[in-house]
Amino acid sequence: MFVTVFLLLVALCAHGGNGEDSEETQRPGHVSVIIVGGTGDLAKKYLWQGFFQLYINQVSSGNTFSFYGGGLSPGEKATPVFFEILKAVSCTKDVSQERCALLKEQFLRLSQYRQLKTLEDYQDLAKDIEKQLQQEGMTEAGRLFYLSVPAFAYADIAEKINSSCRPTSGAWLRVVLEKPFGHDYRSAQVLASQLGSALKDEEMYRIDHYLGKQVVSKILPFRTENRKYLDPIWNRHHIERVEIVLKETLDVKGRIPFYDQYGVIRDVLQNHLTEVMTLLTMKLPANVSNSEEVLQNKLQIFSSLLPLGKNQAVIGQYQTYKSEVQQELNKTKDHVTLTPTFAAVLAHINEAQYEGVPILLISGKMLDERVGYARILFKNDVFCLQNHNNVHCKAKQIIFYFGHGSLQYPAVLVSKNLFKPAVTGSEWKEVTEHKDVSVLGLPISDYYVQTPAEEKEAYSELISHIFAGRKNSFISTENLLASWGMWTSLLSSLTSSFPRIYPGGAENGDMLDVRLRGKDISYNSEVVIISPDKMGDASANSFKVMQGKFRSADMVSAWTEELVETLAADMQEVAEAAIHEGGVFHLAVSGGSTPLALFHRLAVHHFTFPWRNTHVWMVDERCVPLTEPESNFYSVHENLLKHVKIPYYNIHPMPVQLNQRLCVEDDGGVLLYEKELSRLVNGSSFHFVLLGVGYDGHTASLFPGVKADQHGQSLVALTESPSKPHQRMSLTFNAINRAHKVVLLVMGKGKHELVTQLSRVKDALDKYPVTGVKPANGSLVWYIDYDALIG
Ligand code: BG6
Repeated sequence: MFVTVFLLLVALCAHGGNGEDSEETQRPGHVSVIIVGGTGDLAKKYLWQGFFQLYINQVSSGNTFSFYGGGLSPGEKATPVFFEILKAVSCTKDVSQERCALLKEQFLRLSQYRQLKTLEDYQDLAKDIEKQLQQEGMTEAGRLFYLSVPAFAYADIAEKINSSCRPTSGAWLRVVLEKPFGHDYRSAQVLASQLGSALKDEEMYRIDHYLGKQVVSKILPFRTENRKYLDPIWNRHHIERVEIVLKETLDVKGRIPFYDQYGVIRDVLQNHLTEVMTLLTMKLPANVSNSEEVLQNKLQIFSSLLPLGKNQAVIGQYQTYKSEVQQELNKTKDHVTLTPTFAAVLAHINEAQYEGVPILLISGKMLDERVGYARILFKNDVFCLQNHNNVHCKAKQIIFYFGHGSLQYPAVLVSKNLFKPAVTGSEWKEVTEHKDVSVLGLPISDYYVQTPAEEKEAYSELISHIFAGRKNSFISTENLLASWGMWTSLLSSLTSSFPRIYPGGAENGDMLDVRLRGKDISYNSEVVIISPDKMGDASANSFKVMQGKFRSADMVSAWTEELVETLAADMQEVAEAAIHEGGVFHLAVSGGSTPLALFHRLAVHHFTFPWRNTHVWMVDERCVPLTEPESNFYSVHENLLKHVKIPYYNIHPMPVQLNQRLCVEDDGGVLLYEKELSRLVNGSSFHFVLLGVGYDGHTASLFPGVKADQHGQSLVALTESPSKPHQRMSLTFNAINRAHKVVLLVMGKGKHELVTQLSRVKDALDKYPVTGVKPANGSLVWYIDYDALIG
């Protein structure tokens, strides 16, 4: 017994599938299909149905099958669930009820659940397959592993398959993988090399289900069949623009742990839309069925793409996303996420054929309708003087319509003023009877319309392609890395960008419309107004804001998020009043981390803030170059200024660096700032000064030990912290106390002790400089969050 098992194991390890990959050359025999994650959502929804379809198609092909649903749970628990899933498979209309029942019964008989957790589980599976082959005298055709599990498990499973579950000699091994294949170039490369040490490239089938959509897989054949019409016009002289769009109406509730790490660019643009783009623009292969040629031509497109940077993308986030994240990830109410749920990206191909042709890739959740399409819009140089509805004047376009939307079925549409496309083979048919709909600006009757003779599910299509070894329907390692190469630089340039918040659904109106200017893309509307009733969850929570007194001045207190929102709204009110009165609003802001949440709020939610008429001044600055992350100006710039439309000449950083030196008295930086301030700010009185308090009671850069009259009438001074050697430049008490409104923002539990002390002490400027903030004619308001107030 021991000897037999040992020999069997040796045999298993020695055998390797030779990866024979084409349908014509693969030998008939026994095929084992193993879905790892066989009781998961994807398997339940699409995979078992796809494999049942494969079984039906292959039933008289000479091949025999076994199906295994693999999972981590023990068999006793998972088997009933597994069979419930299998019982739900169905036949296509062309199969009679009796035959269908028979096929289903056979399919269920050939299927079993297996626990696939440890290496021994995989070894046992291999042994059982071997045993069955021997007992029934069958030749093995191949083993198909479908890994429907999270990507972090891929490398380990691939290794187990490699070491203990390869098929017998001459049979093929195919391992199918689902995205995500990494989250950037580097991680994709690491995953690819881990997989590469266990599997050969030809054994890996990376799925992009868009390549299984009938309309997407029709792109290359359509371009080939209609070459005589398309060759002369498939270029920059004729194409106005290419749009590849996937609009969705659903949110991402339930998927947030995945989605918040990925966002729409990684989830949809990097894969589905990019694949469509390459199919539309790649050089046509001499033979569309030649996988190698197709993959090589696709790769060429990637190498011709112009790099994507920040100016080639706009991003958005639906309004309620943030609270969904807080809920699903158990985050506090001040947790902010920058993950985009909407993106519009503008790509260009640096090849003579497409030079200057904008290629738009757009996708988003919570949009007005569910629809997916790729449109090639052609230039139209005909001007109709009288009859604008004349066919010559209408849009000239070809649309690969993936489904849903007004049409509700997949189709290829060619506007009638272009050409009448060929309809070849039996798989596609022309549609001549239409319901009265319009598609992308034209009534359906203005198009020649083709649709698949029979609608097929993408996964079923791809499963049949895996079985046939048609590698051009899958993502090769090179293709994958090239695609990440395209997206990674853009993704890193967007890491700290704020998405535009949109209310969701039809309410988005024209808020997400984009404008193309040369190689750049931007939102069409600069100002976005979201009325309070469209603010979703955030507004549903009534603000629990408390008004009171602190150190005899007014105090506003609330939970952090409400406090920040109240302050942002109050600041906007002051700004609007000042502009209404004098045409300008002078704001002085502090550095440090406390105001960051306020800056974020202003940038992301206060689209109507009057930045054009606002001048931003600095309360204080560290003696470091402004480009250093420690610089207060750098922080204000990164977190606020660069996200809002404020004129350059309205921004007033402190001149801490002059003559290539930092804060040297002789360079006169203090005087310069003071002069600029006196010249521009009426009476040197800012409309609004935003201050914080340090743990040691300092405010601005006025540290303990400072004297009330230390800076005399000066507005600006070079100061020094006793504990820190760095010099600072700061507004003086004189400048601060001249302001119309001064706000002291204090947040976080860490400040509770200080707040308690401040509530008790009298004015003690040298110990707590903040107590010297007493606007002469203006008002002082403390904004203290509950964490700091209550502790
Ligand atoms: C998936 C994405 O790959 O594609 C989903 O993860 C997206 O977020 C889906 O909804 C879109 O596919 P389809 O076939 O519904 O257009």
